Amino acid sequence: MSESSFYVTTPIYYVNDKPHIGHAYTTMLADVLARSHRLLGEDTWFLTGTDEHGQKVQEAAKKRGVEAQAHVDEMVVRFQDLWERLDITHDDFIRTTQPRHTRVVQEILQDLYDRGEIYQAEYDGLYDVRSETFITEKDLPEGCSVENLPEHVKTIKETNYFFRMGKYQDWLIEYIEENPAFIQPDFRRNETLGFLRKELSDLCISRPKSRLSWGIELPFDPEYVTYVWFDALVNYISAVGYRKDEESFQRRWPCQVHLIGKDILTTHTVYWPTMLKAMGVEMPKTIFAHGWWLSGRDKMSKSTGNVVNPLDYADRFGVDALRYFLMAEMSLGQDASFTEEVFVKRYNSDLANDLGNLSSRVLKMVHMQCGAVIPAGSGEALSEPAAAVLWEQVQKAVTDMAEKIQVLRPDLGVASVLAAVRETNKYFGAREPWKQAKEEDKQPFFDTLYVAMEALRVCAALLYPVMPGKMGALRKQIGAGEGDPKVEDLQVFGKLVSGTSLPEVEGLFPRYQPPKVEKAKPSTQKPANVVTVEEISIDEFFKAKLKTATVLEAEKVEGADKLLKLQLEVGEEKRQIIAGIAKHYTPEDVIGKMIIIVSNLKPATIRGVESHGMLLAASKGKKLTLVTVDREIPSGAKVG
Ligand code: MSP
Repeated sequence: MSESSFYVTTPIYYVNDKPHIGHAYTTMLADVLARSHRLLGEDTWFLTGTDEHGQKVQEAAKKRGVEAQAHVDEMVVRFQDLWERLDITHDDFIRTTQPRHTRVVQEILQDLYDRGEIYQAEYDGLYDVRSETFITEKDLPEGCSVENLPEHVKTIKETNYFFRMGKYQDWLIEYIEENPAFIQPDFRRNETLGFLRKELSDLCISRPKSRLSWGIELPFDPEYVTYVWFDALVNYISAVGYRKDEESFQRRWPCQVHLIGKDILTTHTVYWPTMLKAMGVEMPKTIFAHGWWLSGRDKMSKSTGNVVNPLDYADRFGVDALRYFLMAEMSLGQDASFTEEVFVKRYNSDLANDLGNLSSRVLKMVHMQCGAVIPAGSGEALSEPAAAVLWEQVQKAVTDMAEKIQVLRPDLGVASVLAAVRETNKYFGAREPWKQAKEEDKQPFFDTLYVAMEALRVCAALLYPVMPGKMGALRKQIGAGEGDPKVEDLQVFGKLVSGTSLPEVEGLFPRYQPPKVEKAKPSTQKPANVVTVEEISIDEFFKAKLKTATVLEAEKVEGADKLLKLQLEVGEEKRQIIAGIAKHYTPEDVIGKMIIIVSNLKPATIRGVESHGMLLAASKGKKLTLVTVDREIPSGAKVG
């Protein structure tokens, strides 16, 4: 692999699903990374695609009375069209039904079978029809047992093929421990290591054709097809020429980053590395699992009807505003909430007020007072102290953005650029250019405009991978030219050419005015039953030291169905607490969340396990929700 090659992938999405905001997010994130690396001049490759085999596809096609292939050919267009609409610049789109993929999967299977890495055995156990997976008794929902199975679980006896995954357990643990960048963020690495504490079994990789025929046939047994993950994961290498085009494979692999959602962590950090190890292929550099987009506080699901359709927002606010929101709002790794209210708030404050307003105030003045040409900034413009401070802030945004893209925190990069935009707005206001314009010596006035335009030039370039459409338009409006910005121009002051004529000013982000809702008049009647509560003084309240904490690990407490054992990061400190939330949250739900704890509670032993602190949760009737924070803040921060 050449030093400057950057290969990024998204999961390949189930072709049967209607694309939603979650799919759009991972793909946009990959797009922002790919665009940023391309601007750096790196040999970039961005792969996405669709996962097209399996029971659900087979059933959906049957229901519609069409061949499975015809069905997926129709369905895939929804993803391809959406990516076009959202300005996604993938270099390749792989479909698992393409011969370039199926052939490679078959070759890998044959090779592993020949080398004894795959064997046949009889499976006698439980099968979850809903998720199409073999499960064990401990995976059953509460209250169920082998004697009392839920409707969607059956016992089956079936001969199948298995991959010797278990034998790689020790190797994998060691590899993960020795390569901290392999699974990111850190708490996800701990989650995988937690999973690997239990014995790792071999992986069933086949389905008999009598039960599922829509899959890739096993080359050594035509009665079987390979099942889901052994097919899907291979896309990452089949697409770049594994076993087919050595030159291309050498150029791209190992992949720099597999972006995934936290739902498919185990498959990517346990199945995939062991498969690669068995094949003798190098590991990807990083597997990054981002958090979940929630609808408000709830999981998005078709049955609840709260799934956000990215097209609704792209149509109403523009593709770039949607891209901006998704990148700015999710702090990578953590869950984030998507609601119209949060969207509009961010849109109006960051885009309409700050960035949109700055560009229109500056440009309007250039048009009205300078004949619509870039004014001549003097060579000394930056020796004026306020301009120098501003330029420093702009340069900080340049450094921050570069760093944060490397560590997959575009949200922090974007925040730094917006800080520079706000600083420019302040600078512009403080210089009072409307007064300067009336002075006889026009140079200070021209300098103000020129400095603000230069700041805008750099900010527009930094936000260009996130909002290619609008930032391209802004670049034209300020006379920075057509086409992509050049990274080497970002640290140089004075790139805008004085005297260049500017096109007409067009508003970039019109402010969104939510429709007015009639407010109910406040009642003049006194409430009938006022319940008085005992009041406390502020000092009493402050005795409780509340702090933010990040949940690093979570697991059930054996023998206690209400309790979860949480490992927390509280600033520098690590601690363990026991919380009675297991009826409302699974360990998976809470890992990565930022919660609030009472940090100075005396340690207690609950069911034989030490608990140091208490978390805050709100409850009413049977409902319970954790108290969390709505913005990014480090763990260990004081609350109150
Ligand atoms: N086909 C498998 C992946 C195989 S990869 C070798 C699959 N497909 S999926 O259609 O279910 O897509 C899952 C991915 O979609 C998640 O990992 C994530 O990237 C994205 N998201 C789907 N819903 C999401 C949210 N609500 N929030 C954020 N991203 C989520 O699993």
